[in-house]
Amino acid sequence: MLEGKKILLGISGSIAAYKTAALTRLFVKAGAEVKVILTPSAKAFITPLTLSTLSKKPVYSSFTEGSQGEWINHVELGLWADYFVIAPLSASTLSKMAMGNSDNLLLASYLSARCKVIVAPAMDLDMYAHPATQNNLSIIKSYGNLIIPPNSGELASGLIGAGRMAEPEEIVDFISKQAQLGMSFKGKRVLITAGPTYEAIDPVRFIGNHSSGKMGFALAEVFANHGAEVVLVSGPTHLHLKHNLITVLNVKSAHDMHAAVIDNYQSADIILMAAAVADYTPSQVSAQKIKKKTSELSIELFQTKDILKELGSLKTEKQILIGFALETQDEEANAIKKLTEKNLDFIVLNSLNNEQTGFGFDTNQIQIIEKGGTITRFEKKLKHQVALDIVNKIKQMLHV
Ligand code: CTP
Repeated sequence: MLEGKKILLGISGSIAAYKTAALTRLFVKAGAEVKVILTPSAKAFITPLTLSTLSKKPVYSSFTEGSQGEWINHVELGLWADYFVIAPLSASTLSKMAMGNSDNLLLASYLSARCKVIVAPAMDLDMYAHPATQNNLSIIKSYGNLIIPPNSGELASGLIGAGRMAEPEEIVDFISKQAQLGMSFKGKRVLITAGPTYEAIDPVRFIGNHSSGKMGFALAEVFANHGAEVVLVSGPTHLHLKHNLITVLNVKSAHDMHAAVIDNYQSADIILMAAAVADYTPSQVSAQKIKKKTSELSIELFQTKDILKELGSLKTEKQILIGFALETQDEEANAIKKLTEKNLDFIVLNSLNNEQTGFGFDTNQIQIIEKGGTITRFEKKLKHQVALDIVNKIKQMLHV
C-alpha cells in the first residue's frame, strides 16, 4: 500500500499524540519508512523512545542533538520525505505554519519540505471552531497542504463535538489513496540519461564537461515517485539515488552511454536524454601517460555517435522521445533544428545566458518546444520543480 514511501511524521503538542504510536506502527506495517519529528511540547504526551522503537529510526525534536550538539538538517528531512504528515496538528503549530514561523525543527522542516504535506488537526471544540483556527486552516490549504478533518465525539475536555483527531487507520487510508492518485506512471518504463561523459586521452586524462547530472537525477526521482520504473544511465557524477523503482547504470564515455541506452531503449515508453554527451572523442587512447615533450600537442578527435538522433530514427509510434538543448546563441532556432533533425516529441531548452541556471546550479530556466511548434516558457525554478513541469507536460500528452 505504502511500499517504499518515505513518511515524515510531525507530532505537535496535543493529547491525541498518544495515537501516533499506533499510527507509526501502521505506517511501518504498510511498507513505509518513517522518520518522526516531535515539537518540544509533544514530548509531554509521547516519548521519543516509544516512537524510535516503533519506527526503528532516531526521533528528532530539536535543531541540535547528542552530547556533541550535532546539527539536525531540517532541509534534508524535508527533502527526504514523500509525504510530511503532521498529526496531531495543534492550534499553535497550525498558526505558526500559516505565518511561516520556524521556531522549532518541525516548523523549519515544514518550510523546507517539497513534498505533499497532510495534516490531521486535533483541538478542543471551541478552539477548532474559532474563526482564527478556521482562517489558518484556509491559509495552509491555499499553500497546497491537505487536511484530514477531525471527527466528532467526546473530547479531552469532556465537551462533545468536532475536534478529535482522525483515527490512525483513517490517516493511513487517506495517505494510501493519495499515493494511488499520484501513481500516474505506474506500469510505464522510463529511460533517462544524466551527467557528462568522460572521453579518455590517456590513463589519467580525459575530455569532459561541467554537467552535474542534477537535472537527470531529479527527473528519475520524480518519475519514480509517480510509479514509473526508471533506468537511469549516468555519466560520472557525485550524486546518489536510492529508490526501489530506479536502476542506476553508471557509465563513463559516450561509447558506454550509447551501449547502455541501446540495451534499454526498446522496452522504454518514455526516453529523456538529459546527459551532456561528448560530441568528440580522442581517436586513440594512449596506453601510457602522455609525457611533456613538445611545445605543441594535437589530439585528433573523432565524432561520437549521436545517441538521441539514432533513437529518433528507431522510435516507435508508442514511444515518447525527449531531448535537451543547451544553447548560447540563436537558442530557439537551434533547439527547433534539433527537435526536427532528431525526430523528438519535444525538446527542453536551457539557456546558459541566464544567471544561476544550467550546469552545476540547483536552478534551471527552461522552455519546452513541442513537435507542433508550441512553446511553453517557465520561470527560473529549482531543478526538482523543473522536473515536475517536464513530467506534467508528458502527463498531458499521454492523458494520464
Ligand atoms: N546527444 C546525444 N548524443 C550525442 C550528443 C548529444 O544523445 N553524441 C543528445 C543530448 O543528450 C541532448 C541532445 O542530444 O538531449 C542535444 O545535445 P546538444 O549537445 O545540445 O546538441 P548536439 O546535437 O550535440 O549539437 P551541438 O553540440 O552542435 O549544439
